Amino acid sequence: MPNSVRLLALSLLLVIGNYDDMRFFVFCVVDEYRRDDFPAEFVFGSGTSAYQVEGAVLEDGRSFSIWDTFAHSGLNYGVNGDIACDGYHKYKEDIELMADTGLEAYRFSISWSRLIPDGRGSVNVKGLQFYNDFIDRLIAHGIQPHVTLNHLDLPQILEDEYGGWLSRKSVKDFVSYVDVCFKEFGDRVLHWTTFNEANLFVLGGYDWATSPPGRCSSPFGNNKCSRGNSTSEPYLAAHNLLLAHTSAVRLYREKYKAMQQGFVGINLLAFCFEPLTNKTEDVIATQRANDFYMGWFMNPLVNGDYPEIVKKNAGSRIPSFTKLESEKMKGSFDFLGINHYTTLYVKDNPGSLEMDTRDVTADMALTYSGIEFPITEFPVLPLGLEKVLSYLKKEYGNPPIYIHENGQVQSCNGTLMDAPRVDYLHAYIGALLDALRNGSNTRGYFVWSFMDILELVGGYDYCYGLYYVDRADKELTRYPKLSAHWYANFLKGNNTSGILPSLKAKDTFSS
Ligand SMILES: *[C@@H]1O[C@H](CO)[C@@H](O)[C@H](O)[C@H]1NC(C)=O
Ligand SMILES: *[C@@H]1O[C@H](CO)[C@@H](O)[C@H](O)[C@H]1NC(C)=O
Ligand SMILES: *[C@@H]1O[C@H](CO)[C@@H](O)[C@H](O)[C@H]1NC(C)=O
Ligand SMILES: *[C@@H]1O[C@H](CO)[C@@H](O)[C@H](O)[C@H]1NC(C)=O
Ligand SMILES: *[C@@H]1O[C@H](CO)[C@@H](O)[C@H](O)[C@H]1NC(C)=O
Ligand SMILES: *[C@@H]1O[C@H](CO)[C@@H](O)[C@H](O)[C@H]1NC(C)=O
Repeated sequence: MPNSVRLLALSLLLVIGNYDDMRFFVFCVVDEYRRDDFPAEFVFGSGTSAYQVEGAVLEDGRSFSIWDTFAHSGLNYGVNGDIACDGYHKYKEDIELMADTGLEAYRFSISWSRLIPDGRGSVNVKGLQFYNDFIDRLIAHGIQPHVTLNHLDLPQILEDEYGGWLSRKSVKDFVSYVDVCFKEFGDRVLHWTTFNEANLFVLGGYDWATSPPGRCSSPFGNNKCSRGNSTSEPYLAAHNLLLAHTSAVRLYREKYKAMQQGFVGINLLAFCFEPLTNKTEDVIATQRANDFYMGWFMNPLVNGDYPEIVKKNAGSRIPSFTKLESEKMKGSFDFLGINHYTTLYVKDNPGSLEMDTRDVTADMALTYSGIEFPITEFPVLPLGLEKVLSYLKKEYGNPPIYIHENGQVQSCNGTLMDAPRVDYLHAYIGALLDALRNGSNTRGYFVWSFMDILELVGGYDYCYGLYYVDRADKELTRYPKLSAHWYANFLKGNNTSGILPSLKAKDTFSS
């Protein structure tokens, strides 16, 4: 149905007050549920990351990160986070909104280059003060802080000095940085994630040039990179991230765990991969997709080494772990964070293994469908989330999991009537409940994103927010969307087919 008609139909339903009828639009696994159906210790929240909300990029001593550089090179859809949502100045009111929404937890990241502008060495007092106050306020509002230590934003100074994550030197600097975080904030922060989407970061950053630091080599990536090597650098960067992660976990366990009692994990992007057909080669290719996306990081952390197929297809381009490294790596995580958005359909592509030079993508020897760029709206496939959780249970011994990101994208056109997002969240949270009842060890769920922010894929044009940010207004005022009301209603104990409170905001917003 045309958008305008659908919008009108929805408005009418809301006016009549019969939200039940909206289930017409909904497919999901458990349709009606309430907060109380989940364990009390399970946490529901929402999240963002530093570069995507804070702005104030050169204020109070912060220095540039590789994401600033990437964006200022025009690579982040031509926009940057110089102002973003001005979260650095507006955090007090944002935390009020979080409390109004009933968030039990908030996932955010610390900007390394705000805390330690030279990458290593002295701590920036203003940066320290900002994060201390931020954390104190969250806690004062009853909201648990869940902190990402590195969300694509290595200090640029370390990239310049030794090539960032391509160098082993990054491990030592990362450990010194997280030591400061554990020491300064660990009395109040119990959940630490070393890296956001480590798997996508190395593919985007070193093979495709779609993430900072935007490296690739011809004929791969955008084919325009002046620096990089898509055939080997993704493997090298991943190797150093794994060593950095493991060292951070070890530091926490040796120096802080006994006192602080917290948890350290890593985050990966987790697609649900399905074979495009039932042909044996597509089924095997689907396992290969899981091995390259999940196993690349999870096998070392669980079993101490990369999956056999990854080692085989990468050959001499993938570094190997020493026996000692491998031993230390085994079991070095307290939880796995996953970001899940959609399902992809995998088809075998053996021809790519015959290329003279191969990037990681060619090493996978597959193609997939189910996603198109720009991403305008995800299909609602909640069983995909159940399958991912079931796969992790079966393959990796049912580790504690946090769903760090899940949400629906839409063009940021000012509509507050984001019914597709409500449909999506309703369906996926229902699937999560089903997975928990089926034995998944998931401990928390975070809607991406709390408000409309700078997106790596889509800039300011494609949004995931529960709150709309009016970018034409110099105050960058936030307005709750239908999804914010729906989530609040759920978090405050109503069942999901309960009648929505009447919307206080205008149906559509335009300034
Ligand atoms: C804005 O985008 C949403 C989602 O794509 C769509 O449903 C809505 O109709 C659009 N509104 C306008 C005014 O274009
Ligand atoms: C990329 O790295 C591989 C392995 O180190 C090397 O053989 C190849 O020549 C490099 N390619 C480029 C374009 O630098
Ligand atoms: C594969 O086989 C299963 C079980 O027979 C069937 O349900 C499914 O639809 C088939 N999938 C495809 C893509 O043909
Ligand atoms: C439920 O768990 C079992 C055992 O782990 C698994 O085989 C099954 O696929 C799961 N069901 C769903 C819907 O994920
Ligand atoms: C729960 O739903 C009822 C109507 O069914 C509504 O009056 C009430 O405001 C809702 N509670 C919250 C916290 O939204
Ligand atoms: C859910 O809420 C609706 C509206 O408040 C109510 O009519 C219905 O009985 C509730 N269902 C359950 C299972 O509590």
